[in-house]
Amino acid sequence: MAIEKTISIIKPDAVAKNVIGEIYSRFEKAGLKIVAAKMKQLSKEDAEGFYAVHKERPFFGDLVAFMTSGPVMIQVLEGENAVLKNRELMGATNPKEAAAGTIRADFAESIDANAVHGSDSLENAAIEIAYFFKPEDVVSR
Ligand code: TYD
Repeated sequence: MAIEKTISIIKPDAVAKNVIGEIYSRFEKAGLKIVAAKMKQLSKEDAEGFYAVHKERPFFGDLVAFMTSGPVMIQVLEGENAVLKNRELMGATNPKEAAAGTIRADFAESIDANAVHGSDSLENAAIEIAYFFKPEDVVSR
């Protein structure tokens, strides 16, 4: 299986709940390594650019408002099949549909305040990593 890198963002709701460590622990128990990390208060421009693919969707304004409502914790995860593995740990977009034991089932309140973001493909992972990190700030190990 290929070693991949993916982006994970712990969203403002989960940062406010003080569960960064609990979420990191799930990544590590699943064999994913944290190879870059930073806390950041996203600007409106940061959030709009990051979610540009959704800009025509009805929820775009609310999504940008939510993502800028408090600091986020952004990390690059590395490991075998990291993109899919992270998506499995996250659970479905709507926490009401997320499988038991997933991050969203355990920590998310609603479809808009859903605790975590994760890249949905290897191609988007590369784009999203480059959006937030310089190459020298990602340390493969
Ligand atoms: P999406 O990329 O569909 O989901 P995921 O985060 O699981 O990859 O949507 C991006 C974010 O947009 C999602 O995490 C929360 C928000 N969103 C809403 O607020 N309402 C919606 O109906 C959808 C589909 C998404």
